[in-house]
Amino acid sequence: MLVAHTRAMTTPRFVQLHREDSAALRLELAQGLLGEPASVSPKFLYDALGSRLFDAITELPEYYPTRVERALFTRHAGTMAAIAGRGRTLIDLGAGNCEKAARLFDVLAPLRYVAVDISVDYLRESLASLQRQYPGIEMVGVGADFSAALTLPPEAGRGERLLFYPGSSIGNFTPIDALRFLRQVRAVAGPGGALLIGVDLVKPKPILELAYDDPLKVTAAFNLNLLRRLNAMLGCDARIEDFEHVALFNEPESRIEMHLQARRALTLRWVGGERALAAGERIHTENSYKYTVDGFDRLLRDSGFARTTHWIDDEQGFAVFLATA
Ligand code: TRP
Repeated sequence: MLVAHTRAMTTPRFVQLHREDSAALRLELAQGLLGEPASVSPKFLYDALGSRLFDAITELPEYYPTRVERALFTRHAGTMAAIAGRGRTLIDLGAGNCEKAARLFDVLAPLRYVAVDISVDYLRESLASLQRQYPGIEMVGVGADFSAALTLPPEAGRGERLLFYPGSSIGNFTPIDALRFLRQVRAVAGPGGALLIGVDLVKPKPILELAYDDPLKVTAAFNLNLLRRLNAMLGCDARIEDFEHVALFNEPESRIEMHLQARRALTLRWVGGERALAAGERIHTENSYKYTVDGFDRLLRDSGFARTTHWIDDEQGFAVFLATA
């Protein structure tokens, strides 16, 4: 009896919410390619190879956000826990390998850990191994695309919530969509809830552009991998050699833009469509908005959070905000 009980407590539960079918995804890809300018949604960046390449990006000296954010969490975790409160339900948005949240377990002492990612399959292994290390924390893996709408299944439970959104992923939304998303976060956090979020800050153009176009060309491979996905999903004939990775800081918009630029005039052909590109014409693949501290603070308040605290690495220009409802 006791053994069975212990076993039940130390097994994570998994829930997969609605998932787009491949016909819808193919339609989205084709519509993007036919747009003006042509574009491919960044959600296609993270297949098995893309996720590995992104992990490699986080090891690059030029890509400062991961490293600087980790240092901020390590240095200020005690204060963060004092404000956010211990013993909460920790909800990790875009959890991946769950590593960032796991580093905070000892100090935050969550009662429940809810890891959310686009596919529940990404979460199975990491959550099972975390559960063995922390048998006292109830663990739930949720597969959901929260970029369009943030809804959690009943398995997320009712306890007081701390939402966790690290890595400056908020920068991948346009400011309007970021506001819409943060309002949903505020609603999901509920009364007494909080949000812990990492935000990359505006800084000199050369530093930003190097972070998104490293000399080892890992970021270039990450971006170019989209062409492999186009070929696989649409039956497209894109040749990787025909494209160049371009990352540029658009100062008026305060965003890094990523593009795939045609090295020569060419036509992409796929099952049911085609798109001609002139030499130098670009396919837009991703934006990464950079905020000022005041600008992001305002965004949090506009989203309905009452109080905010932040910690900054001045030298590297990265911030962690803790917002309470
Ligand atoms: N959220 C990360 C960021 O915007 C994702 C990222 C890092 C990224 N490097 C990239 C996205 C290169 C597209 C291209 O910083």
